[in-house]
Amino acid sequence: MTRVLVIHGPNLNLLGKREPDVYGDVTIEEINKRLQQFARKKKVDLDIFQSNHEGEIVDKIGKAKNRCKALLINPAAYTHTSVAIRDAIMATGIPAVEVHLSNIYSREDFRHISLIASVAKGQISGFGIDSYMYGLEAAINLAKK
Ligand code: DQA
Repeated sequence: MTRVLVIHGPNLNLLGKREPDVYGDVTIEEINKRLQQFARKKKVDLDIFQSNHEGEIVDKIGKAKNRCKALLINPAAYTHTSVAIRDAIMATGIPAVEVHLSNIYSREDFRHISLIASVAKGQISGFGIDSYMYGLEAAINLAKK
């Protein structure tokens, strides 16, 4: 079965309790449930991973090379800092879709820069949980190409 890797970056395990005015009250469990429901309908297998550690995310992407056909990633704070995650995506060549719950371009200046965007196929930002749903649809289409 076609497999898509889903990565949630740092602090996303705290969704629901974390800055609800910015990120809403949706929890990571709810997001994962919705992603799984959609993937089942599309007959796609999801490998879902959350980590607060950059190196673990790099390892996970590296190991996905021959296992996963596409990557859906919310790199969270690492969006703005991580050359290592960017290089891992480049190195594996897995088509990636970058998503953000909030609109990173309407927030602080330091969030306007994504080191990931130019190695991703595209980016979806600002639609809350729907960013993930649109992103998964895009990732599945890339995986099935
Ligand atoms: C985020 C936006 C990032 O700037 C931030 O560091 C996050 C979450 C989002 O989903 O809106 O942790 O990626």
